[in-house]
Amino acid sequence: MKFFIDTANLDEIREAQDLGVLDGVTTNPSLMAKEGISGEENQLQHYIDICKIVEGDVSAEVISTDLEGMITEGEKLASLHPQIIVKIPMIKEGVKALKYFSEKGIKTNCTLIFSPGQAILAAKAGATYLSPFIGRLDDATTDGTELIAQIRHIYDNYGFKTQILAASIRHSMHIIKCAEYGADVATCPLSAILGLLKHPLTDIGLEKFIADYKKVNAVNA
Ligand code: E4P
Repeated sequence: MKFFIDTANLDEIREAQDLGVLDGVTTNPSLMAKEGISGEENQLQHYIDICKIVEGDVSAEVISTDLEGMITEGEKLASLHPQIIVKIPMIKEGVKALKYFSEKGIKTNCTLIFSPGQAILAAKAGATYLSPFIGRLDDATTDGTELIAQIRHIYDNYGFKTQILAASIRHSMHIIKCAEYGADVATCPLSAILGLLKHPLTDIGLEKFIADYKKVNAVNA
């Protein structure tokens, strides 16, 4: 399972990269706005800055909703850096754009996925990644992780190569459920990644190991 970090914050990306388990980054227009990145030139530069920190794929989202606009924007984004993945919304024109980019060998991430039907369309159009939004489904009183299981089952039935990139992850338990259900990637806030390493018995156990070592080795702490 690959770990992406779901942020446009360079410090958080660096911290996750330093941990040594980071495989990529996802951004969206809201995450870019949260960092105060405005203006096309600054936004494009920010994507390049992110690519310099990580080694893996970096999703950059188009904001056009017509095919021509998505193609123009997507080609510009893809030409920025080899790590850039063009993020396309699941709308009718988006499906056409996915097909276009797939035929041109440009990698894509189909975003705003909330149903298995949308997942089938994206896979048939040749999306590289598919982003089901599990946290937003939970917010709407539907178990978001169930969608991951459903899509995994469907993709395996037909050998679809599109990678399931579980998105809108809110906490560590979401990551574990996505791993159980076979998501290829989880894109997570830093807090959810760091949450995986915590267990009180680990802290208690470590404290005792160190105390016992000091008892017989006369280490002054
Ligand atoms: C990432 O690709 C998605 O845009 C993101 O995970 C959405 O998360 P949110 O539902 O917390 O905004």
